[in-house]
Amino acid sequence: MPDNVTGGIAWADAYAKAVAIVAEMTIEEKVNLTIGVNGPCSGNLYGVPRLGIPVLCLEDGPAGPRPVHGISQYPAGLMTAATWDRELMYSRGRAMGKEFYDQGIHIALAPVAGGPLGRSPLGGRNWEGWFPDPYATGMASYLTVKGIQDSGVAAVAKHFIGYEQETDRNGYQVTSSSSDSALVNQLPISSNIDDETTHELYLWSFAEAVRAGTSHVMCSYNEVNQTHACNNAYTLNHLLKGELNFQGAVISDWGGQHNNIESVYGGLDVSMPGSGSGGVLGDFWGNGALVDDVRNGSVPEYMLDQMVYRLLMPYYHLGQNETELPEVIFNANTGTYDAPDRTRNVRQPTTPALIRTIGNSGLTLLKNTGGLPLSLGADSRVAVVGTDATDNSVGPDGCGTVYTSCPSGNINGTLSLGGGSGYAYAPYIVTPLDAIQARAVQDGFEVAQILRDSDVETTFEELLPISDATIVFVSRFSEESEDIPNLSLDHDGDALVAAAVNQSSNVIVVMHTTGVVDIEAWADHENVTAIVSAFLPGMETGNGLVDVLFGDVTPSGKLPFTWGKSIDDYPPHTIVSDPVPAPQANFTEGVFIDYRWFDKHDITPRYEFGFGLSYTTFGYSDLVLDNTFKADAFAIQQTAEPFEGYNGTNSLYDVLFTVNVTIKNTGDYTGSEVAQLYASIPGDDQPVRVLRGFDKVKNLAPGEYGTATFDVRRKDVSIWSVERGLWYVPTDAITISVGASSRNLLLTTTWTSS
Ligand code: NOJ
Repeated sequence: MPDNVTGGIAWADAYAKAVAIVAEMTIEEKVNLTIGVNGPCSGNLYGVPRLGIPVLCLEDGPAGPRPVHGISQYPAGLMTAATWDRELMYSRGRAMGKEFYDQGIHIALAPVAGGPLGRSPLGGRNWEGWFPDPYATGMASYLTVKGIQDSGVAAVAKHFIGYEQETDRNGYQVTSSSSDSALVNQLPISSNIDDETTHELYLWSFAEAVRAGTSHVMCSYNEVNQTHACNNAYTLNHLLKGELNFQGAVISDWGGQHNNIESVYGGLDVSMPGSGSGGVLGDFWGNGALVDDVRNGSVPEYMLDQMVYRLLMPYYHLGQNETELPEVIFNANTGTYDAPDRTRNVRQPTTPALIRTIGNSGLTLLKNTGGLPLSLGADSRVAVVGTDATDNSVGPDGCGTVYTSCPSGNINGTLSLGGGSGYAYAPYIVTPLDAIQARAVQDGFEVAQILRDSDVETTFEELLPISDATIVFVSRFSEESEDIPNLSLDHDGDALVAAAVNQSSNVIVVMHTTGVVDIEAWADHENVTAIVSAFLPGMETGNGLVDVLFGDVTPSGKLPFTWGKSIDDYPPHTIVSDPVPAPQANFTEGVFIDYRWFDKHDITPRYEFGFGLSYTTFGYSDLVLDNTFKADAFAIQQTAEPFEGYNGTNSLYDVLFTVNVTIKNTGDYTGSEVAQLYASIPGDDQPVRVLRGFDKVKNLAPGEYGTATFDVRRKDVSIWSVERGLWYVPTDAITISVGASSRNLLLTTTWTSS
């Protein structure tokens, strides 16, 4: 068993405090810090009142505290990813973290740090996370963890590991109450992943979360190579606590624990919800079981001590022992916890502007043959079409405040976030229609409103020909617990666009979706003059959109995934639904997901990874590669990932070289450009290229120059050797390309390790 709890470089003081206090605890008190109990939060640890450790509150989720009122509804991870803006990624985490703190939450169940990574475009929760790319997701995870923790709240990087489908994610113990599977005794899906793919794809972003000092990691529902992820000694003890040198606690997803002693030896530290929620999700350590295990020697007490150190170190490190957090006044467990749910408004005055900025910066312009920016004077009329433009006909909360309260799926009005534990209540929603109307008040144009998705033909005949522009809103919802069956728009969005192009030669399509949708029926139609992907923008959705539609902000978002033409363009069988006792998802595509798959098989996507148009244009020139070595300066905690050339002081994350590129705004609008660096690393069956840098050069005026800078680290040019079990830099030349997208590479050089 690894005995590797030291606190690492960041938590040495906290380690000393944890050791000292645990020495004073009884076995029962220690166990109380490892098993959830009933309380106001989604997860509650009883604490040790005798020693001043309070009840600890664990609460979802990645787009803001949930289910809690008085908070902001942040844009989804996916939308934030589309900004490719490191500052916004950090600021979102920081602002969200403050709201968690001010609600009295010690531990935020966020971010989704690469589980799911987005192996399948049908995955129901991809939008909670970032990019189907380890490097970019790693950066977003690092910055979000840092942001949340800089606000004094412990982050939980989730879901570890290989959690890539909702279908059959839970086995019998959970599905007995939710009947998710065909078989009562079915095991959760097993993600069967080879060693190279584990390292190069699915583990990568968790390493970045650890480097950012993530307090905790949530183990996932699925099995990994036929062992439950929450008692998987290989993934938890060897990979996470060993290779990544993770010092915090492994917290089970709710109902992700399947056994008692096996879980202790398998690397689980905290059981959730444990005895909470009546223990219905599996209360293996509760009712004295873990206490007995220790008393009768089945679990050595030092192991229990380590579990508690891991939980408490972040508590001390973040200073949660020094300043009492506000009292929790919400109730996340109506029905199972007897206390009222009350609202405390913790929103900050600056947050709406931040959310609006993420909305306008992540909005991705996919086609523009002249539809945008809109220029509508007092004598103009714009037609606004589709239910996604506005509130649900019964109001956003007309069916209750839980997102999916309305009878089925996506009929809750404009789509600002996906559903499930990643949803956050909106204090208000500025719908697209609201924002367009506010603009109409200012500029004097008329707004024709056709806020339905079908039976529109007659109205279209009447209104679209006399409108200067038609904005059609379409959407596609997805949520936790189920994957989507296909890539179709909801509410027959294709038919809505088809009806619009029959009557208008200036149709602008705005999409709110949780990922790729099939737009082949109309994307090339000449009357579709612009296509905008607005993803899931949170409560300021309309404002961010109008900023871009009317040209106040030049679009600068780029696709955080590959927009294929059909589901057949992507790796096959990535959602497994077999009615067998032990369903198996074999990750046979290896590291080749998303753009890597398209490149390998030479498939032309509709829009490639990293693609996005602007109102202005940019020139790329003067690539300069500088071999100046820079020691890693970003490890809040250091990993112990093995690599060739380790000399006792160097790091896998040292910068080996830096690439600078000059970017010039060659067009007519002030704008920002996301420059991307790709590496083609030689080796057996390596991807054609992998993303290894991005830099958003912001707010260049027409004619102005800026510099995109990419620090390339040892890991960024390494591959994982299965034979040797370490990272190494190949000796052959590596091609380095910089460009505007994964398929628009404008400058190229080579780099060779010396
Ligand atoms: C299950 C979800 O998978 C996880 O993300 C969430 O944090 C827990 N439920 C608690 O709500």
